[in-house]
Amino acid sequence: MSAGLYAGLLRPALFALPADTSARLGEAALRAWPAWALADRLQRLSAPQPGLAMRFAGVEIASPVGLAAGFDKNADMLPALSRLGFGFLCVGTIMPKPRVGNPRPRLLRLPQQEGLRDSMGLPGKGCAHVVDRLRAYRRGGGRVPVFANVGGFTADELAETANRVAPHADAIELSLICPNIRRDGAPFDALGRLKAVLPRLDIDPGRVVLRVPNDVADEPDRFAALIEAAVAGGLGGLKVGGGSTTPEPRLASGAGTLHGAPIRRRALHNVALAGHVARGRIPIKGNGGIGSAADVRRMLAAGAVCVDLYTAFVYRGWTLARDIARELAADAPPG
Ligand SMILES: Cc1cc2nc3c(=O)[nH]c(=O)nc-3n(C[C@H](O)[C@H](O)[C@H](O)COP(=O)(O)O)c2cc1C
Repeated sequence: MSAGLYAGLLRPALFALPADTSARLGEAALRAWPAWALADRLQRLSAPQPGLAMRFAGVEIASPVGLAAGFDKNADMLPALSRLGFGFLCVGTIMPKPRVGNPRPRLLRLPQQEGLRDSMGLPGKGCAHVVDRLRAYRRGGGRVPVFANVGGFTADELAETANRVAPHADAIELSLICPNIRRDGAPFDALGRLKAVLPRLDIDPGRVVLRVPNDVADEPDRFAALIEAAVAGGLGGLKVGGGSTTPEPRLASGAGTLHGAPIRRRALHNVALAGHVARGRIPIKGNGGIGSAADVRRMLAAGAVCVDLYTAFVYRGWTLARDIARELAADAPPG
């Protein structure tokens, strides 16, 4: 019923507005958490499904399907999001200080393909605000694990932000770079940055996930070297995706990163490649174009142990995580 309510009524209304505006309306709705507690109770959105519990990066998760970074940048929506049936929630990217991000328009829908294109430019309320919200979530009894995705323009910034947030999150996801920040000259040295950051971290490395920059996957040697460094550093996991940044004149910055169904195939390819390099030494979270239980199964078959998603949540609405978990549970062996 509610999938119909979203697809039939709310989504057409939201999609009639510019994407930046409907994103803000969606966020406002998800801050009104008591409504979502009621929806959870009525629709059994967060009821655990049998046979799906597992560990990723040292964290017990009730389902292998999480919400990807970028949706709740400031941890403002955790009380509502934790009632929708996701196995884990990634907040961020958290930067050390508040940032306004790129000018609007910075978000674009591609409805024919169920895609999104963004050039957000890392807007956010900064680390102190997120720490405050994470504390409140814990005080409020929030039980769904939170992975805090952190960023920074230097190794010091990144490590300091991670160290400040880590005591308040279940695990840390290191974002080495955002592709929408313009850089001139040579490609960003992700490996050098990772090697500079790891010794500065005051966190059990087993609780740290490395977000492998998407462009690195196009260069097998750089990709393999980064994964080897993550293994050598004893990290708890990798996030491997399939987004790509290309020119987009409809966005104010002139370029954007593609997400959703159009990147599914590339993401699967990258996960398989990462699995080949990792050889079971570090678990992989697959990401990119996940919108159904069949997509999750394909990602797991490619070598991931869990997944997270963003774009399909925008297209399918608040029952998506529950519906996928129910379908996966129907496959899970009894006991
Ligand atoms: C509007 C938007 C903003 C995003 N912001 C971030 C971010 O701040 N940090 C990050 O690591 N990933 C960010 N992402 C990437 C998502 O975490 C995810 O990797 C990507 O959307 C691919 O998954 P999907 O195909 O399920 O959407 C963003 C994605 C979108 C669509």
